[in-house]
Amino acid sequence: MWASGDYASMVETFLLPLGPRLVEACGIGEGDRVLDAAAGTGNASLPAAERGASVTASDLTPELLDAGRRRAEAAGLDLEWVEADAENLPFEDEAFQVVMSAIGAMFAPHHQEVADELVRVCRPAGTIGLLSWTPEGMIGALFRTMGPFAPPPPPGAQPPPLWGSEEHLNELFGDRVTWRTLERDALEVTAFEQPRDYAEHFKARYGPTIAAQANARREGREEEFEEALNRFCDEWNLGTEERARFEMEYLLAVGERS
Ligand SMILES: C[S@@+](CC[C@H](N)C(=O)[O-])C[C@H]1O[C@@H](n2cnc3c(N)ncnc32)[C@H](O)[C@@H]1O
Repeated sequence: MWASGDYASMVETFLLPLGPRLVEACGIGEGDRVLDAAAGTGNASLPAAERGASVTASDLTPELLDAGRRRAEAAGLDLEWVEADAENLPFEDEAFQVVMSAIGAMFAPHHQEVADELVRVCRPAGTIGLLSWTPEGMIGALFRTMGPFAPPPPPGAQPPPLWGSEEHLNELFGDRVTWRTLERDALEVTAFEQPRDYAEHFKARYGPTIAAQANARREGREEEFEEALNRFCDEWNLGTEERARFEMEYLLAVGERS
């Protein structure tokens, strides 16, 4: 799903600030051994490497890792890129000082498996950092809008935006992580002139939207899908006639692994 469309260009268009935000909150520094799980094109991995950390970027989608590798080469940064499922990481126990994920691990279907793996590969007193879209924010609402059109999720899958709930994180991690930062913030998006330009962007580039649209088309409901997506963008627009503006809420959670 994530290889369809053009996720790399979404990052360049409006998601870039999220990686450095997470890296800063994790306090990553020179020589730290860092895992970025579900790293995509390295939006958090690259800023971590810029700070002198030794970074492993892992993701399920090789096409995105390839794009990340090219970004790193262009920036003169040296990282390790590993194809891996966040539910079953190919790393030793306690291998990393910092384990982080920016709007990444939240998209693996089985939340508890992912949380257990993130804890397992983080050393005691190490840092776990997560940046996740919230259920109440714009992407939470996007998933609710697309849900009735999307193909059936894998058995046992939970909705991605649950990772943006403080309560859900506490259920997943229990007393294995003591959160020192648990704050909500919003990414402002002003890259589009009209609200429906954002809908077009999602349809052309965002894997989950492309999958929902393709399924709606198979079911003869494509027009209904497009109307729902357009309405959604109109409703969430906070901008003016000349320029659309959106606020996309996320939860930043950083804690110490016990
Ligand atoms: C919204 S993108 C975020 C990518 C990146 N962290 C960023 O900040 O731009 C979600 C990523 O999760 C990855 N992903 C989804 N399910 C996964 C899984 N089970 N294991 C590893 N990566 C997964 C996708 O391949 C995609 O790169």
